[in-house]
Amino acid sequence: MYNLLKGKKGIIFGALDENSIAWKVALKAHEEGAKFTLTNAPIAMRMGAIKALGETTGAEIIPADATSMEDLENLFTKSQEVLGGKIDFILHSIGMSINVRKGRPYTDLKHDDFLKAMDISALSLHRVLQTAYKQDAINRGGSVVALSYIAAQRIFPGYSDMADNKSALESIARSFGYYYGKERGVRVNTVSQSPTKTTAGSGIKGFDVFYDYAEKMSPLGNASADECADYCVALFSDLTKKITMQNLFHDGGFSNTGVSQEVMEMFMK
Ligand SMILES: NC(=O)c1ccc[n+]([C@@H]2O[C@H](COP(=O)([O-])OP(=O)(O)OC[C@H]3O[C@@H](n4cnc5c(N)ncnc54)[C@H](O)[C@@H]3O)[C@@H](O)[C@H]2O)c1
Repeated sequence: MYNLLKGKKGIIFGALDENSIAWKVALKAHEEGAKFTLTNAPIAMRMGAIKALGETTGAEIIPADATSMEDLENLFTKSQEVLGGKIDFILHSIGMSINVRKGRPYTDLKHDDFLKAMDISALSLHRVLQTAYKQDAINRGGSVVALSYIAAQRIFPGYSDMADNKSALESIARSFGYYYGKERGVRVNTVSQSPTKTTAGSGIKGFDVFYDYAEKMSPLGNASADECADYCVALFSDLTKKITMQNLFHDGGFSNTGVSQEVMEMFMK
């Protein structure tokens, strides 16, 4: 370990079970010397699982629905009390779409569910940042990372309204990143991660095909959840002080590959 986060304090959203990207980030952040609180939506939280993670990492668990300003205000107030001061890093690892879960075609979405998914998966980042900003809860030099997917830029059938949510998420990171950077020296970025076998990932129709295709397309292969956690830790650290307002691809080279030899061979006669 490198002690990259020694003395740093954070809030980690979205550790549901041991496959969650946020779970791996919590383990790595702990290894790198950080102190943090863990949070998830009260209804989504698997108490047994998150309690075990809390014990391993010495983290207090503070439930918060990321669509509730009241919950978020309480989360930031309590986290600063528990951790003994302002926050240095935040991981936003939150996504949910009822339309995706129900397998509804993009041409026949339920718009109430679309709005709910947008609120949970994208506007929640604005809510988190606005709450932190109003409480002045993040130290200068702090870093906020939210997780995204390349469907924000390109169509992936089956990803449905989550594609639009991810576009909005990336845009919010850019816009808030401007104000937070200029006024308080805080970084805001999104990491666009390879398909990863988690509860949210596996809920997408055709996920296994996305996964195998990306694996064959990416010169370095798919990035794992553990590798994503390493990248997030680097972005929370002082080694990346001038990176902000970016959507950063962490995908083994997938985003810049037109076609790979392996995929071409699948079509050769
Ligand atoms: N798995 C993939 O293939 C993949 C690829 C790229 C990006 N991502 C993104 O990574 C992030 C984490 O997902 P994951 O793959 O680790 O899956 P996951 O299912 O383990 O995590 C999603 C989390 O969102 C939480 N959540 C849902 N509604 C919430 C609410 N109202 N308030 C607070 N939290 C809420 C869930 O409880 C869960 O912990 C998501 O933003 C996802 O879109 C995943």
